[in-house]
Amino acid sequence: MQKRYEEALKNPIFPLIASAAKELSLDCYVIGGYVRDYLLDRRIPKDIDIVAIGSGIALAKKVASKIPGKTDVSVFKNFGTAMIKHADFELEFVGARKESYHRESRKPAVEDGSLHDDQKRRDFTINALAFSLNEKDYGSLLDPFNGLEDLDSKCIRTPLEPKITFSDDPLRMMRAIRFATQLGFTIVPESLEAISKNRERINIISKERIVDELHKILASKTPSVGFALLHQTGLLKFVLPELLALQGIEEVEGQRHKDNFWHTLEVVDNISKTTDNLWLRWAALLHDIGKAPTKKFDKKIGWTFHGHEFVGSKMVYKLFKRMRMPLNDKMKFVQKMVRMSSRPIVLSEDYATDSAVRRLIFDAGDHVDDLMTLCEADITTKNPKKQKKYKNNFKLVRQKIVEVEERDHIRNFQPPISGEEIMKTFNLSPSKEIGIIKDAIKEAILEGHIPNKHKDAREFMLKKGKEMGLKLLNN
Ligand code: CTP
Repeated sequence: MQKRYEEALKNPIFPLIASAAKELSLDCYVIGGYVRDYLLDRRIPKDIDIVAIGSGIALAKKVASKIPGKTDVSVFKNFGTAMIKHADFELEFVGARKESYHRESRKPAVEDGSLHDDQKRRDFTINALAFSLNEKDYGSLLDPFNGLEDLDSKCIRTPLEPKITFSDDPLRMMRAIRFATQLGFTIVPESLEAISKNRERINIISKERIVDELHKILASKTPSVGFALLHQTGLLKFVLPELLALQGIEEVEGQRHKDNFWHTLEVVDNISKTTDNLWLRWAALLHDIGKAPTKKFDKKIGWTFHGHEFVGSKMVYKLFKRMRMPLNDKMKFVQKMVRMSSRPIVLSEDYATDSAVRRLIFDAGDHVDDLMTLCEADITTKNPKKQKKYKNNFKLVRQKIVEVEERDHIRNFQPPISGEEIMKTFNLSPSKEIGIIKDAIKEAILEGHIPNKHKDAREFMLKKGKEMGLKLLNN
């Protein structure tokens, strides 16, 4: 007797769909991510895919009519799909097809098929599992490709020959790697080999869909798994060549530098233990990309990467643009983190003076904590003594940031003297002298010569004006 999973279909929406299907005399099934994640005991997915043996659109309309109140159905006639938002679920209806199925497919649905036809054109066996919503076998699992076994043995495997599945939709190569990373699964050797063979085909996929997968890899618990697989299959060259360029160790005159690709992956895994901020994780992934173009060997000092932070932050813009990622404050944040990625390290190597800490807070602003998190993740030395020393130093810098901030309020620094006050005091019209005085006040505060207070700043301004030969308004 086949095992049933009525428990998975407890939500009242499922009996409602079942009765709508019965009225239309068609069979239907829950398929894909919902089934997979339920069986994995993962999370209750918000997207529910329903496949109908017949018209998915007709079924969606029938379901909507049965939901109390008004329910909109979005119909995509060309693709034979329809979508309903209900409670916090998104229900997607599709008619079973003989050809490949994927959500963003631009190919119109042409030929209707059986459930089995539909399942075999899906990406992986674990995504081809279906629960019946039909009276005769409600809750049964339909698993013609042994997806359940693959769930148990943690395998990513294509239902058909991998070559066919991946050429139906080359994004599936990235999806295989993403699922392997998210779920901690292994891609079976035949599929892995097919990815390596077909890697160039990723070029026909839109950047947006690729980035979606990269986001999901980065948001996983151990993102390095995915990037290592992208590297192993050769996809990395087409997706993020900047990272590939970091790979390798060169030796000149017996001096070697570290492999910055594998180092970067360690940093990304480290930071993923302490933050879920996706953009901070991106910053960790890209923090060293400027090292490839700036690498030089100097006979006296050995390997150098002068200015790699600045070059890297410029590369962030180009990379985001190429990948059609947002060129907004998220990108600027990543750029800033990359640009400043060595600052706290320099501080932690030496005794951090108050003024150096004030400057760090001033430059990093509200992102100073994120920057510290990034730099702490950057400590990948295997020498336990050094590891302990760096960690301790970072603790001290963090403490100092709190102390200095409490005292001097440098974060979101607002000059204590406005340009207007300077103009009034010295009877000036807008001119470069105002900027000079403002800068001098800021410098005096950051250097710790005067406190960040109006009274002290005013005294300083009067002195500076005098030095510059400016006359006071009253004199
Ligand atoms: N699918 C496919 N090929 C694709 C994309 C999707 O065969 N390129 C099928 C799979 O059966 C998948 C289902 O469509 O399970 C739904 O796709 P999607 O919502 O993108 O993925 P989920 O499996 O639901 O997983 P997640 O929500 O984690 O992306």
